[in-house]
Amino acid sequence: MKTSILYSEIKTQFGKKFNFLKDKPEETVDSTLKACWQCASGNPMSAEEAIKHPLPALNDKQLKQLYSLLEKRLKNVPLAHIVGRQNFLGIEFLSDKRALIPRKETEILGKKAVELSFELAKNRDSLRVMDICCGSGNLGLSVAHLNPKVQLFASDLSEEAVELAKDNTNVLQLGPRSVILAGDLFSAFDNNEYWESVDLVICNPPYISSAKVTKMDEEISGHEPVLAFDGGMFGFKIIQNVIEKAPTYLRKGGWLIFEVGSGQGEFIMKMCERTEKYEDVTPITDEIGNIRVIAARKNQKE
Ligand SMILES: C[S@@+](CC[C@H](N)C(=O)[O-])C[C@H]1O[C@@H](n2cnc3c(N)ncnc32)[C@H](O)[C@@H]1O
Repeated sequence: MKTSILYSEIKTQFGKKFNFLKDKPEETVDSTLKACWQCASGNPMSAEEAIKHPLPALNDKQLKQLYSLLEKRLKNVPLAHIVGRQNFLGIEFLSDKRALIPRKETEILGKKAVELSFELAKNRDSLRVMDICCGSGNLGLSVAHLNPKVQLFASDLSEEAVELAKDNTNVLQLGPRSVILAGDLFSAFDNNEYWESVDLVICNPPYISSAKVTKMDEEISGHEPVLAFDGGMFGFKIIQNVIEKAPTYLRKGGWLIFEVGSGQGEFIMKMCERTEKYEDVTPITDEIGNIRVIAARKNQKE
């Protein structure tokens, strides 16, 4: 059967049955079908990437495989886990159960981190960047991939996430410019080789309150690690620690940049200001004006 006719038939059969989550706006009926189609053909790619590619013809075995992938999706297995890929800032990352699936909203943080890395790298040969709570490595590895002056030091409490981040490092061939270790926040780098030497600390911490974590959609709670979401009773526990500890690692004038939940921004900006360790605390908003990222510059004078 002609590929376009087969595609229309499958779209009619499955199209209305998918459940889409708000925080994955790149997933539509077409991008889901196309990502599964490419994966069944033996060329796995993310939803965002698949939408740009023509569909190859499928043989009988591949067609059977396509149906099996679509059935999985109907059971609310995340698309990124089915195809094993998620796109972040235009870069294809491996994605599986070992870590959070990078979200589109985190690209606000990613883009600002890349921009800051270029600003800080002016007149410099190299730049030290830390990605704390690195998960699959999407933030730090994107910055290192896009800015060749970056030396990356990343860590996560989850050994499994660190393994996935290392796999992504290998795919992107960033091994020589990356150190990825397991540890609680900065602990893997807690020695004088790192103190007051880092230009940019990036962090997308868990920031959902423990009570809300128990009410997350099954597609999330059944497939992604709870450690990636739970920010304690009010959601601030991890970020408060990061704000307090980052100045030990940042050089004077270096930046801490991190994501916050909608509605948390004002409170967390005050938290940064109260430490008196940062001289410039800047909010970055999404397209509807919510503060979703905070950039805080370590004091240049002690
Ligand atoms: C919201 S996810 C962010 C993952 C990735 N950076 C991203 O943007 O998609 C938070 C990450 O923090 C890690 N984490 C939770 N508590 C931690 C801690 N105390 N120290 C280090 N990492 C922690 C989780 O394992 C998870 O990978």
